[in-house]
Amino acid sequence: MISQFQESLHLTARTFQSEMLDTTFEDVLEHIDSGIMLFDEEGVLSFVNKQMYGMLDLPRSSLVGCTMSHLLAHVQLSRFKKKLVLRIYRETVYKGKPSYEYVDEFGRYWRVTLSSGEQLKGSYLFTVKEISDYKLIEQTAYQNDNLAMLGKLSASIAHEIRNPLTAIRGFIQLLRPHLHQLGKEEYARIILAEIDRANDIIHEFLTSSKPSVPQVGMISVSALLKEVVLLTESEALMKGCQINLHQLQNDLIISVDVKQVKQVVLNMIKNAMEAITDRIDSDMGRIEIGARREGAEVRIFISDNGKGMDILTLDRLFSPFFTTKESGTGLGLSVSDRIIKNHGGCISVSSRLNEGTQFVISLPLIQ
Ligand SMILES: Nc1ncnc2c1ncn2[C@@H]1O[C@H](COP(=O)(O)OP(=O)(O)OP(=O)(O)O)[C@@H](O)[C@H]1O
Ligand SMILES: [Mg+2]
Repeated sequence: MISQFQESLHLTARTFQSEMLDTTFEDVLEHIDSGIMLFDEEGVLSFVNKQMYGMLDLPRSSLVGCTMSHLLAHVQLSRFKKKLVLRIYRETVYKGKPSYEYVDEFGRYWRVTLSSGEQLKGSYLFTVKEISDYKLIEQTAYQNDNLAMLGKLSASIAHEIRNPLTAIRGFIQLLRPHLHQLGKEEYARIILAEIDRANDIIHEFLTSSKPSVPQVGMISVSALLKEVVLLTESEALMKGCQINLHQLQNDLIISVDVKQVKQVVLNMIKNAMEAITDRIDSDMGRIEIGARREGAEVRIFISDNGKGMDILTLDRLFSPFFTTKESGTGLGLSVSDRIIKNHGGCISVSSRLNEGTQFVISLPLIQ
């Protein structure tokens, strides 16, 4: 009698325990960050958690008891989701792929995994998880890989370009006394400085993906901009654009790596010229360059009346390798952004499609 009683007590305890476990597991499945859906061996949906019916945007009551074909014919299921469910079903159940990735209507990445087999006793378990973060990491790793590859490739290019540059440098030095006689020694100085800059650019931006330590020197913004404009003016005129350098105050002094900051302004003028050339209607191209003090900073602006940019371009502007040009590398602005950030400054941009673009470079001033 006692042992019978003990046995029934034992049984009650076990049932209670297993019910407890069931509810605990269900609770866990309900609150897990993935969507879960279980079809039994008859192909009937026997369990669906909150995440999953939320994703499908259908009430749970209308799902449990459905088969896959009922689900696909569900009147409340949107067209986009129907297509998606069908695609998932085809890729996993039909083609036997263990997982399938897709992008939803908001651009988020998801992975669906199908588990079946003996352990599930003929049932099919679908789990859906958002993987946007992993994708971002994957993309960054891929970009870093690209950068590393570019580093290797450019090392050999740099080596090849250096030789002719050295020869040009030597001959300019030989010509220097003659230019001096003609009163044009300034030209030789600019050519030599530009050759040195080309050498540095090759070394700094292409042979390594890391920016070098800036070689800081003091310069007035006015002198820096004048020199850059002198270098680009003739090319701009040939392309039908006029560069207008505004009157500048002489007390705007910055402490920067002059070559690097010149490179930034040059990149922007080059982009402006290209945007003007790409403009559909043929207005006279205008590039306005100026600078003004703003508290302890100087704001250098470069604006153009070129083709402007749409939101998607504006969004990715500073990403390495982002380009909309056939022969662009997409490195100009990403490198410029890094240079200005290294100098404790920032770049901002505003643009209107078919009207033009303005870049503003902010840099700390020497007080
Ligand atoms: N002033 C501008 N007007 C319109 N679009 C611009 C302007 N400046 C940049 N862009 C857009 O930003 C993209 C990235 O510019 P970035 O200078 O980084 O690379 P790129 O000019 O394409 O290539 P590279 O600089 O190597 O020649 C350009 O492809 C272009 O679509
Ligand atoms: Mg560019």
